[in-house]
Amino acid sequence: MHIVSLALGGCLKAEPVRYGITEDTGGHITYILGEMEALAERDDVHLAEIITRRFEDAKLGPIHGQAEEWLSPKLVIRRIDSGNTKYLSKEALSVDRPAFVQALIAELRSRDRLPDLIHAHFADAADVAKQVEAALGIPFIYTAHSLGMDKCATGTPPNPCMAARIAEEDRAIAGARAIIGSSRDECERQLLAYPSSKVGKIHRLIPGIDRHFSDDGEASALGLLEPFLRDPTKPMVLAIARPVQKKNLLRLVEAFAASSSLRARCNLVLIAGLREGLDTGEQEQREVMRGLIEAIDRHDLYGSVAYPKSHDRQQVQALYSLATQTRGVFVNPALMEPYGLTLAEAAAHGLPVVATMIGGPQDIVGDLQHGLLVDPCDTQAIKSAIERLIEDDDFWDQCSSNGRNNSEAMNWTTYAEGFAHIASEVVGKDKKGTSNPSHLLVSDLDNTLTGCRSGVARFKRFLSHENGFALVVATGRSFVEARRLVRDWGLPSPLAWITSVGSEIYIERDGELVLDDAYARKIADGWAPQKIDNVLRDFPGLTPQSACEQRAFKRSYIAASCQVATAVEQRLHDEGIGARVVFSHERLLDVLPIKAGKAAAMHHVASFFGMPVGNVFAAGDSGNDSDMLGACENAILVGNHAAEVAELANRPNVYVSRRNHASGALEGLLAHHRAQRMRARQLAEVAI
Ligand code: GLC
Ligand code: MG
Repeated sequence: MHIVSLALGGCLKAEPVRYGITEDTGGHITYILGEMEALAERDDVHLAEIITRRFEDAKLGPIHGQAEEWLSPKLVIRRIDSGNTKYLSKEALSVDRPAFVQALIAELRSRDRLPDLIHAHFADAADVAKQVEAALGIPFIYTAHSLGMDKCATGTPPNPCMAARIAEEDRAIAGARAIIGSSRDECERQLLAYPSSKVGKIHRLIPGIDRHFSDDGEASALGLLEPFLRDPTKPMVLAIARPVQKKNLLRLVEAFAASSSLRARCNLVLIAGLREGLDTGEQEQREVMRGLIEAIDRHDLYGSVAYPKSHDRQQVQALYSLATQTRGVFVNPALMEPYGLTLAEAAAHGLPVVATMIGGPQDIVGDLQHGLLVDPCDTQAIKSAIERLIEDDDFWDQCSSNGRNNSEAMNWTTYAEGFAHIASEVVGKDKKGTSNPSHLLVSDLDNTLTGCRSGVARFKRFLSHENGFALVVATGRSFVEARRLVRDWGLPSPLAWITSVGSEIYIERDGELVLDDAYARKIADGWAPQKIDNVLRDFPGLTPQSACEQRAFKRSYIAASCQVATAVEQRLHDEGIGARVVFSHERLLDVLPIKAGKAAAMHHVASFFGMPVGNVFAAGDSGNDSDMLGACENAILVGNHAAEVAELANRPNVYVSRRNHASGALEGLLAHHRAQRMRARQLAEVAI
C-alpha cells in the first residue's frame, strides 16, 4: 500500500521540530511523524508519504521550501507549491486552498502510480482530500485532532469562523470513508454530535508515545530552569501547553499560589510554547503570557516559577524525566482536551498526573491509572489533587509505576497495525466473512475470546474453514471499544455486534454498520434512566463508571460488594422502577431495561438472521453472560470463567471447557456440534 498523510498547516518537518513556533505547529506533527514512521516500517506499506504546503520563511527554516525531505527509504515529506510562498496561518490558508488543491492534483496526475489512500489531518486537509478523490478516485480517512463543536461547548468566546469550521468538519465526516479518533470521548461523544456522523465509520486508534528519549537533554533542560529557580531540586509541578486560553494555565498558577504547602515544597514549571519576547507572536498568546506573568508577580512567586522562552523536543523529554526524579507532578488543566498526548508521555516517564476531566484525559488516566482527574474550573480541586500526589508517597509510587507499565501498550507499531487494518477495509482488500451462515456463535469478548493469542489464531482458523459458522460478539463494552478489541486481537469480523451488555445491537445495512433501531424500540419500554440516576446518586458503596459507560440504555457503576448489588436491586424494586441489575466480576454493576440483556439481544439477532435456536451457540465467562448462557441450547463456559457463574456448570445445556479463552470457546463449540451431529444420526437410525 502507498499511504499519504495530508496536513496543510504548521511547520511540518523531520524532528527536531520547534513545537509552538507557530500556533499551528502542535501535537498533530508528532502524531503524523509517529504514524508514518511506523507505517513505513511495515511490509505491506511500500511508501509512506507526508504531503504538506511548501513555503519560504527564513525564520521558520529553509527546509520548508524544500520539495522533498526523505526521512528513511520508504518515508518522505513532499511539499506542494501552491504558488504562494508565504507561511500561512489558519485563516489565510483557506484562501490559498483552491490553488493548493490544483497544484496537488496536477502533481499526482504527473505520477505513474497514484497513492492508495489519503489520511487527512484536520478538516481543511479533508476538504482537499475530497477534491482529490473527486478528481482521481483516491479514498480518504479523516482524523480531526480537535473539533470545533466541542470548543464552543467549553466557553471559548464565539468566533465568527466557528460556524464555518463546524460545517467544514461535518463535511469531512460525511466524505471520509473512515474516521479515526484517539479517545473514547472523541469517538463516542464528540464526533457523534455532528449531523453527518455515522458510528459505523468511526474507529478508535490509540496514538503511540515517543519513546526515543535519552538522558542527553537533562543538562540543557536544567539550563532552561536555572535562571528562574532558587532550588531546582524541589518537586517539579510541570505543565506543557501552548499559551492559549483554553489550556487554562492561569488557573494552574492560581492553584499553585493558593497552596502554602506547594509554594514551600515545589517549583512550578510552565513550558508554554516558544516566544521571542512578550510583545511578539499572536495576540492570544501575548495576552495569555501577560496574564501568567501578572499572576506570578501578584503572588510573588519569583524563584519558584519557571517559564522558559524556548525549548526543543529533547529538552521536553528531559523535563518529564527531571520532574519524575524530583517526585513531581504533571498537570494538564485544559478546559477541554481532545486527547492529551502529554499525559501519555508523562506516564511513559513514570510521572504522575493531575488532568482535566473534560475530554480525552478521562480515558488516558482511566486506562493508565497514573493520577487524578479534576474539574478544570475548580482551582481548589486542582490544588488539592497536586498536594495529594506531592504529599502521599505511596500514592505517588503507585501512580508512577502504573503509568510506566500501563503505557507500554501505547506505541506507534500497534497504531500502524490498526491503521493498516482499517486502510485495507477502506481500499476494499479485505474479504467479508460468511454472509449466509448456517450457525451462529454468539460470544463475549473479554476473557472469553481475548486472553491468549494462539487460541485466537486457532479459533479464527476454525471460523474461516467451517464456512457455515458466523461470529456475533456480545460484550459489555461499547461498540467503538468492541471494534477496537476485535481489531487488536485479530478476531474474525463479526456478523453482528451486541454491545453495552446487550443494550445495543449493530448490524450491517447497505454495507454500513448501524444501530438496530427495532431492538432499541423493543427494549425502551418502561426504561426510566432519570429515575435510576436519582435513586442511585450517592448510594452507599456505589460509584458511577466513567461518562462514556453511561449509555442510552445502560447505567454502569462500580459496586463495593455483592451486598451492594443486592441492595441496589431491592431499592429499585421498592421505588417501583422496572430495571435489570447485572453484576459482573464481583464489582461491575450495570442497570439495564427489563427487556434488555445479552439473552434478549441474542434472540433478536438470531431471529433477524432467521436462525433456528438449535443452531445458535453462546460462549461466556462472567456475570453479564449469565442470562445468555442460561437461555442458549448450546452454551459454553470457558475454563477461566468467574466464580459468579460457576453454578451454570450444572445445567444440561452448558458445556464447561477444560481450556481457557478462545481455545475454550472453540472446544465447547466443537463439543456441542459433535453432540448435535450424534443426536441427528441417532434420530436417523431410529427412523430407519
Ligand atoms: C464492560 C463495560 C462496563 C460494564 C462491564 C460489565 O466492561 O464497559 O460498563 O460494567 O462490561 O458488564
Ligand atoms: Mg467477559
